[in-house]
Amino acid sequence: ATNRTFTMIKPDAVSNGHIGAILNDITSAGFKIIALKYTQLTEENAGAFYAVHKERPFYGDLVTFMSSGPIIAAILEKDNAVEDFRKLIGATNPAEAAKGTIRKKYAESIEANAVHGSDSDENAEIEGSFFFSQIERF
Ligand code: CMP
Repeated sequence: ATNRTFTMIKPDAVSNGHIGAILNDITSAGFKIIALKYTQLTEENAGAFYAVHKERPFYGDLVTFMSSGPIIAAILEKDNAVEDFRKLIGATNPAEAAKGTIRKKYAESIEANAVHGSDSDENAEIEGSFFFSQIERF
């Protein structure tokens, strides 16, 4: 079925100049852009977005990193969007990501891993709504 996922191009990939290449990979793979913005998270915003990871040892560093510079946020649509997007971006740790995946090509480390992708339809809607109102979706 056609459904939606949510992504961020993280501060590492933005500062390394990969916005254009990553958006090209995403649209070339058949994802339609439903919403798009360039913004920077405060530490409070990043903490709320990643609240599900609050008890993890990497949470503090993740929040600091994700608020360290501007990001791109987007809602994407495609058949089987959540699963296909996770295949396109590759494993969380770029050292384990398959050849040709976005993380293999552009990520620096497990934390500075270039992109985020939602892990379920439910989280895609929650995460998309964190950034976008109805009048920002097309
Ligand atoms: P993301 O898909 O955005 O969701 C949570 C993020 O936490 C993940 O990408 C990584 O950037 C980060 N993360 C996950 N596991 C680790 C880890 N073991 N060490 C540091 N960061 C991690």
